[in-house]
Amino acid sequence: MSRAAQHAGKPALITDIASLRADFPALHQLVHGKPLAYLDNAASSQQPRAVLEAAALQQRLNHANVHRGVHDLSERSTAAYEGARAKVCRFINAARVEEIVFTRGTTEAINLVAASLGRQRLSPGDEVLITWMEHHSNIVPWQLICEQTGAKLVVVPITDAGELDRKAFSRLLTARTKIVAVTYVSNALGTVNPIADLVAEAHGAGAVVLVDAAQAVPHLRVDVRALDCDFLAFSGHKMFGPTGIGALYGKHALLDAMPPYQGGGEMILTVSFAETTYNALPYKFEAGTPNITGAVGLGAAIDYLERIDFSALGSYEHALLGHATERLLAEIPGARVIGTARDKASVLSFVIDGIHAHDLGTIVDREGVAIRTGHHCAMPVMERFGVAATARASFAFYNDRSDVDRLMAGLKRAVELFRG
Ligand SMILES: Cc1ncc(COP(=O)(O)O)c(C=O)c1O
Repeated sequence: MSRAAQHAGKPALITDIASLRADFPALHQLVHGKPLAYLDNAASSQQPRAVLEAAALQQRLNHANVHRGVHDLSERSTAAYEGARAKVCRFINAARVEEIVFTRGTTEAINLVAASLGRQRLSPGDEVLITWMEHHSNIVPWQLICEQTGAKLVVVPITDAGELDRKAFSRLLTARTKIVAVTYVSNALGTVNPIADLVAEAHGAGAVVLVDAAQAVPHLRVDVRALDCDFLAFSGHKMFGPTGIGALYGKHALLDAMPPYQGGGEMILTVSFAETTYNALPYKFEAGTPNITGAVGLGAAIDYLERIDFSALGSYEHALLGHATERLLAEIPGARVIGTARDKASVLSFVIDGIHAHDLGTIVDREGVAIRTGHHCAMPVMERFGVAATARASFAFYNDRSDVDRLMAGLKRAVELFRG
C-alpha cells in the first residue's frame, strides 16, 4: 500500500511550514547572538519535540533490555522496539517486518551487506559496480570485500553536471557484475538518480542491487517494492530522528540465505562449542543489545513524517533550492555551483573564487548560519570537479526564505572580508 493510500481516512496532511518549524526546539535559538539558520540537514537534520519526547519516555520509564525478559519493563521495551520496526517496514513499504534490520545507520547497513553478501557471492573475476558520486560509506566497504575476495570494483563516471553517465552504466554492467551499489540522492551534489531504471537494468544483467537512501528518505517517498531494489540503507539522524540508529531493508530470500555479519547474543538459537545455530530474521543480523531508544526515536520520526504531505513539501524544498541557487549566482561574485543535475534534491554545493570553503563556513557561522564545508565524505566527487572542498547548504522542509536571506548575507560578509 502506498503512503498516500495509508493516509486515506486520516486527518489532513500538514503542509504549513511555520507550524512544522515550531515543532523543532533547536531551530529557535541564538547562535553567536543571532537567530540560527540551520542549513546542514544533509549531515544531520534536527529532531521534532515528538521524537525527543518519545526517546526520553523510553529512557525514563521503559528502559530495559529487549526480547529476553518476562518482566513488564522488558515487555514494554520490546513492544516499543518491535513497534518501531513495523513503522520502518510501513514507511518504505516493505513486504515483511523480518526484512527490516536495525543498524547504527547507513554505514553499518552497507558494511553488513558488503561483508555478508560479498563473502557469499564474490570470487576473482566478479565485479561490484558503484558510481563516482558515492559517499565513502558506499565505496570503502566494497573496496574491503573486493580485496578479500579478489573481485574488482568498477566505477561508473559522472557528467560535468554531476549526473550519472547513463550510457557508461549500461556499458560497464556486464555478466561479471554481481552487485550494484548506488546512491539514490548524492549528498555532495544533490543529484537524484533514476533508481527504478537502474535496478531494472541491473536485474536484467543478473546483479543484485543495494540502494544508499541516506539522502533520499528525508525528501522523497521511498517505496522498496516499487523500486524493486534488493537492499536499501538509511540513517535516522538525517530523517529527523536520533543518531546511532538506521535500518537495512533486504529482500527476505536474500537476507535469509546470507551468513551472519556479527556474532554474539540475540543472533543465535543454540550455542555449543561444537556448533552454533542462528536465529531467524531479522535477529540473525542484530547481534548484541540494540539501540532501543534510537529505534523508538526513529519510529517517532516516522510517525511525524507520516503526518506531513511529502509530495507538497518536496515541491516546496525544490522551489527553495531553486531560489537559493538563483540568488547565489546572481548576488555572489565568483560563485560556482558544483552539481547542476536536472533532478536535484535539497543540496546546494558551491565554491567562491578566492575564498576557501572552510573560511566561508566559519564566517557564516558567526552570523548564525550553519552550513557544512569540506569534502562531504565524497573525495572522488571533489577530485572529479577539481576542487579540494565545497561549501554546502542543505535544506529541509522546515527551512524558509529567511534562511536563504541569512545565508546570502553571510556570504556577502565573507566576500567583503576577503576582497575588501
Ligand atoms: C549518501 C550518504 N550515504 C551514506 C552516509 C553515511 O551515513 P551515516 O554516517 O549515518 O552512516 C551519508 C551521510 O552523510 C550520506 O549522505
